[in-house]
Amino acid sequence: MLSAERNETLTRFGPGTPMGELMRRYWYPVAISADLPVRDLRKVRLLGEDLVLYRLSNGSVHLHEDRCPHRGTALSYAIVESQGLRCAYHGWLFDGTGACLEQPGEPADSTFADKVRVKTYPVEELGGLVFAYLGPQPTPTLPRYDLFCWDDAIRDIGHTIVPCNFVQIMENAVDLDHVAWLHGRYSEWLNSRGLPVEIPKTFSRLNREVRFDSTDYGILMRRQLEGQDASAEDWSIGHPLVFPNMLRLGGGGSFGFHLRVPIDDENTWVLWYTAYRPGGLPVPAPGPITSYDVPWRLPDGDFRLDHVEGQDIMAWVTQGRIADRTRERLGTVDRGVIMLRQMLFDQAERVRQGHDPMGVFRGPGSDRVIDLPQEVEKFGEGTGFVRDFLEAAHAKFSTRKPEIVRRYAEVGLDLGIAP
Ligand code: FES
Ligand SMILES: [Fe+2]
Repeated sequence: MLSAERNETLTRFGPGTPMGELMRRYWYPVAISADLPVRDLRKVRLLGEDLVLYRLSNGSVHLHEDRCPHRGTALSYAIVESQGLRCAYHGWLFDGTGACLEQPGEPADSTFADKVRVKTYPVEELGGLVFAYLGPQPTPTLPRYDLFCWDDAIRDIGHTIVPCNFVQIMENAVDLDHVAWLHGRYSEWLNSRGLPVEIPKTFSRLNREVRFDSTDYGILMRRQLEGQDASAEDWSIGHPLVFPNMLRLGGGGSFGFHLRVPIDDENTWVLWYTAYRPGGLPVPAPGPITSYDVPWRLPDGDFRLDHVEGQDIMAWVTQGRIADRTRERLGTVDRGVIMLRQMLFDQAERVRQGHDPMGVFRGPGSDRVIDLPQEVEKFGEGTGFVRDFLEAAHAKFSTRKPEIVRRYAEVGLDLGIAP
């Protein structure tokens, strides 16, 4: 349980707030590269700030404040030209550095344009995502987490927007006990009531023991399932929460990041980034990194509960737009949740004292690839885990599912799924 004041501190990301200052020390995805063609622009919102993202015909990507410095019209309605963005209202032209190149209504000898700039933020593309940094200078290095750099794996990205605060979604990442209940027992219950739920069979064993260890990149999570001993990878390897906004998760030849991006205090962009290397083998022609939507609403607006992510989203959203932690009753199963909250408060305090928080990298060598631990033999189920992902979770909506199933077959692994 938290006081109303602590809950407010934990969940507000506006500029100048303790968590807002912490969160602005990190890079976040703002678009999927494949979904931003040349000469396209889009409005994006990150940490409550309205921005415009666009790609020039030379392929470069730029991010500005979504406000023309002339009289404040949104630049997300601008024209993308070869040199930059031309405001729709009076035609002022800005380049990718934020400089004003033209003001068509001003006299030919005017130097006014030299005095005008639009606010611009660093962007960088990596692993099929466009990342942005809104924080103070100097800009830290965009971390090269391993999966973003695997160009010999089939990679795709499922995504959706969820109408609730970022923190309650991250709390789910350190909630190892929900898996067997929400995705196991609850799926069985729905199935018994006639809802066509593909039950993720590998998810249903209860935990005998769980362990959370603080590491230099976040929290390493390990579990022993009933019937497992300490040699099982769920205990001997585990998988991490990468502070502040990623969960590493996979198994059976799938390797994943669940990324959560705070759009504002009440909305979060959720991405399921997966790299498939069946049998641990490189994929000769992995193709482009593609995206797909993960639907979770029924036509009547209620939750879709027939897949793992729909169930998770029900659990997150029904806590409220911002969960009221003054009314919760935490138990032993919430150890990970308590640890994560404390980490957020501690790291916000580090920033307040003028230090970099954990997971911020700078200087020589900071662009090295960062390999993270993750079970391959997840739940002791071999490829059963990835079969469940492809049949009962976000990956069932992937446009590349047939290709993924075929690749498993090519390396001699039968998922029991028709391609
Ligand atoms: S408001 Fe943009 S050019 Fe006038
Ligand atoms: Fe879940």
